Amino acid sequence: MMQHILVTGGTGTLGRHLVPRLQAAGNSIRILSRSKHEAGNGIEFVSGDLATGEGVATAVQGVEIIVHCAGSSKGDEEKTRNLVRAALGTGVRHIVYISVVGADRVPVKSGIDRAMFGYFASKLASERIIIESGLPWTILRATQFHDLLFTVAQMMAKLPIVPAFAGFRYQPVDADDVAARLAQLTSGGPAGLVSDLGGPRIYTMVELLSSYLRANHQHRLIIPVWQPGQAARAHRAGANLTPDHADGTRTWEDFLADRLG
Ligand SMILES: NC(=O)c1ccc[n+]([C@@H]2O[C@H](COP(=O)([O-])OP(=O)(O)OC[C@H]3O[C@@H](n4cnc5c(N)ncnc54)[C@H](OP(=O)(O)O)[C@@H]3O)[C@@H](O)[C@H]2O)c1
Repeated sequence: MMQHILVTGGTGTLGRHLVPRLQAAGNSIRILSRSKHEAGNGIEFVSGDLATGEGVATAVQGVEIIVHCAGSSKGDEEKTRNLVRAALGTGVRHIVYISVVGADRVPVKSGIDRAMFGYFASKLASERIIIESGLPWTILRATQFHDLLFTVAQMMAKLPIVPAFAGFRYQPVDADDVAARLAQLTSGGPAGLVSDLGGPRIYTMVELLSSYLRANHQHRLIIPVWQPGQAARAHRAGANLTPDHADGTRTWEDFLADRLG
């Protein structure tokens, strides 16, 4: 059955994988974006900004499902609050939210924690806003996407000596694997907090950086750096990993080979 779906973040890394999957399932798609876009490929665009609330009421008008993928490193809580506020009292009967593995396990208490890992607290706060909204909901927590770790490695590789958080491990997952899972969840009913989704393998940060450097034919010294604070301690204990849900199919090696040839 065709559903009218609003995808926030439909222009982002995840959203670009998700939207075609939702369309292929026969849904009609609207994307909320801060930039102006021409309608095309059967997609309707609404201009707006979740941070200010501008355009959000128009974006939610007439939709039955919202898949909330808009996000940035800061302030997701406010964006989610504005979205939920606009959606209440409309015909929205399911909100699907993408969060991060460790949102509930990475403590963000001190200034150091906030500066480096405030993202986890804002994802947890967003989850709570959705859970308490009164809208029927589904939340999926995923590990870091390949694209994100690739961007981090690209930036780090510009330095003459590459710092790596000592003892940190990551379980990168492909954005398309996350999109596939979200599309499946969107076609089902509200399911609450579902099983985490992680990539197929776990790597140390040093391994990720050195494999990137190798694939990019770069030689750099990687120096492990001790990161203070409770959020870093939680990372060293694996709070950002989900070894029991290593369900992603595409590996970091495949992703690197595609990107760097
Ligand atoms: N990347 C990861 O490793 C990872 C891991 C787990 C969970 N997640 C979550 O997955 C979601 C998508 O991540 P991503 O990496 O695909 O993000 P991304 O590529 O950085 O894209 C961000 C998207 O959010 C939209 N957006 C940002 N601020 C907005 C605002 N104020 N109003 C409206 N739209 C706004 C952008 O739309 P416009 O620029 O068109 O306005 C864009 O489509 C996020 O919620 C993120 O927290 C990401």
